[in-house]
This record gives sequence, C-alpha cells and structure tokens, in this order.
Amino acid sequence: MNELDSEAMAGAMSELGYDTAASEEDADVIILNTCTVRDLAEKKALGKIGALKKLKDANRKLVIGVAGCLAQQRGEQLLKRFRHLDFVVGTREIDKIPELVAEAMTRRRQMASLCPRRKIVEPTAYKRLHDVKAFVYVMRGCENFCSYCIVPYVRGPETSRPSSEITDEIKKLADGGYREVCLLGQNVNSYGKGLREKIDFAGLLDKINKINGIERIRFMTSHPKDISDRLIKAVASLDKVCESIHFPLQSGSDKILKLMNRGYTYSDYMEIVGKLKKAVKDIAVSTDIIVGFPGESEEDFRKTAKAFNEIEFSNSFIFKYSPRGGTKAAGLDDDVPLKTKLERNRELLTLQEEISLRKNKEFVGKKLEVLIESPGKKDKNLFTGRTRQNIIALFKPGDFKKGDVAGFIPSSATPAVLSGKLADK
Ligand code: 5AD
Ligand code: SF4
Repeated sequence: MNELDSEAMAGAMSELGYDTAASEEDADVIILNTCTVRDLAEKKALGKIGALKKLKDANRKLVIGVAGCLAQQRGEQLLKRFRHLDFVVGTREIDKIPELVAEAMTRRRQMASLCPRRKIVEPTAYKRLHDVKAFVYVMRGCENFCSYCIVPYVRGPETSRPSSEITDEIKKLADGGYREVCLLGQNVNSYGKGLREKIDFAGLLDKINKINGIERIRFMTSHPKDISDRLIKAVASLDKVCESIHFPLQSGSDKILKLMNRGYTYSDYMEIVGKLKKAVKDIAVSTDIIVGFPGESEEDFRKTAKAFNEIEFSNSFIFKYSPRGGTKAAGLDDDVPLKTKLERNRELLTLQEEISLRKNKEFVGKKLEVLIESPGKKDKNLFTGRTRQNIIALFKPGDFKKGDVAGFIPSSATPAVLSGKLADK
C-alpha cells in the first residue's frame, strides 16, 4: 500500500511539473512516505527525517514533507521535534500534497494536514514503478482492530471504491500495456460494505475478469474470518484470478488468536484452507505470522510451527511482535524476551525455506505459465517473471517480450526461484 501511495504522491508531483531527482542532494522537494506498523519501521523513518536536516541546512529552499502512517499518528509531534520539516500530511490526504508543496515554496511555516476520517479523493495520476503489473486500490482502511495493530488508527474506517471507478481505472491500465493487476485493501473481503450498489468482492472479481487486455488478477489482503464460499468459487472459476492467496494466520494457537482479537480459531482457518485447496488446483497460500505476542508460551509457538507443516505455506512473512502505543495489546506485558522472539523467528524462517524448496521442486518438469516482467538484475540475458502461484521465474526470453504470457517449464528450483525454459503458451 505504501508503494502505491508513493506512486500517487509522485503522480501528483508530476502533474505539478516535477520530475524524479537523481539523488536526495539534487532534489528541490523530498517527501518521505512512512510506515508505523512495527517499531523498526518507525525508528528508520525517524532516523531518516533527522538525517535530512543537513540537506535543509545546506539548501534553505529545499521542501521536506512527511507522509504516511507515522505522519498520521504523530504529525504534530514530528513538526515540533524536527523544525526542518515543512509539512506533515495524513494517509487520506495525498491529494493535498501539491498544495502543501506550493505553499511551502512561497512561505516558511510548518503545516499539518491530518484529518483522520476525511473522504478520500482518488489520485488523478500515478507515476508507476513497474510496467506490466500495477496495484489498484479497491478499498481502504480497516475496522477489525486486531489487538496488536495500529492500522485502524492510522488508515481510518473501511471505505470501498465504487466498482465502475475501479473497472475504469483497470481498463485504462490495460490500454497502457498493463497485464496484471493486484487489487489492494486492508481487508478486500469486506469490499462493498457501505456502497450504494449491491456488490461484494466476488462480484467485483467477476467484473474485472471481463476486462480485455488484463491477463491476471491478484488481490491482497484477505482476512480469514471473511473468506466466503462465494469468494472461493470466484477464485476457482474465474480464469484470470491467479491460484495464489495471501491469507494471514498470525498464530497457530487459539489462545493467542483470541488475545489478538482475530475472530477465528486455528480449525476455522484450516477449514478454509481445506476448501481452497479442494476448489483450486495448485493454489499457493501465503501468510503473515507474529512471533512473541504477549503470553506466547513455548507450547503456543509449537502450535504455530505445527501449522507450517500442516498447511505448507508457499511463502510466509514472519514478524517479531512489536508493541504499538494506543493499541489494546500495548496494555499487555511484552513478556517474551527478544532473544526468544529472534529464535522463534529464525526457526520459522528455516522451516519455511525447507517447505518452499520442497514445494518448488514439485514444479520442476511441469508446464506452468509466466507473465514476463523484466530483465534479471544479475544477468541481463535472463528475464524474470512470476508464475500464477506468484513464484519468481528466471528464463531466456527468446522471441517473447515483456508483458507476454508464456508457457514455462522449470528445470531447477531454490526456495525462492524457479529457473527454466519458456515454451509456447
Ligand atoms: N508487531 C508485529 N507485527 C505486526 N503486524 C501488524 N502489527 C504488528 C505488530 N504490532 C504484522 C501482521 C500483519 C502484517 C502486515 O504486519 O502480521 O499481517
Ligand atoms: Fe491490522 Fe487486523 Fe486490520 Fe490487518 S485486519 S490491518 S492486522 S487490524
């Protein structure tokens, strides 16, 4: 989401006549987009804001703004602590950035634009980082209030975009050569709530599946408590919807899930995974996990490790619990020592590597499908793409070009990459 927001910020600045600077030293305007989901992200942002002071000292005309979740949460404090900042802008006010920059150019005074519940004005332009595939917002905000999570406080209430606005944006992307869209929302499964039209996320997928030129549809993130049979059916039956779902489990222990206020048990989660695996051949399930949540005993952690072996995630993002001020869990004793959090994190990473390697090896020799994205970073003769299961593929492009969908037969596998040859589709 932050990547898409940054693309919107760059788009708004382009409309104002600005281009991307070669370096920070070279820039007239610097806007820092921040995250506050864990303490490390927040510390990094604070360090970076502090480090920008020397650029401001060297060039008084430089405009520096802070955007994103940290600005939303602590904007006024940031302005007081860092006098070299010109403005802070909240997560629902990206469209205000050009105005703030123009104002900062003419007058030196600190400004804050931080309304937490403002109606979002959709960006009129994005300066996108990628061609071929693009992120598209379908909804924003979250009202789940998982006990550890700051997002509902900094991203505001759930707000869905009308489906015609989304399909119009995707049609334009298709005309511009994009072949894959990843539909974004904190909880895409609650799409449609509060809209005048009667539509749910499965209905939206159906509409997008009909757009010419788009070859692939992905979406993120799905909350387990809201995955409906209609959605599973849509993933199974719509040809462009890829066989991959990101679906955070967070913990394998019911005791911890309850403390997290997740609204499901491990067996509820398993039931959905079972349905997905049955309905969609080769579906890849990826997940988010938090280790070291308050009260997580060795026995609780073992349940999470067991879940890895039972479910065999294709990929997982594992985080050490980090207390966030203002959340419910911040009132609990952060009683799992850092050393234990690190050990648990490492153990799950190792387990995931073994599982990913095993699963990727199963694909060797089978015909898959890739969307060709770009030349590889190390070897320019090799191109990268993704399989429908979202695994990175490496191959020689031959007669194919960027944006083509081609058959792909892997000949070797690592935990993260399949290497092989392209074949006709
Ligand atoms: N500490 C650690 N991880 C967190 N996440 C959200 N809040 C926290 C926190 N306070 C993780 C969750 C979520 C992912 C985006 O970040 O796993 O799914
Ligand atoms: Fe945070 Fe839970 Fe909302 Fe995800 S569903 S953004 S973890 S509160």
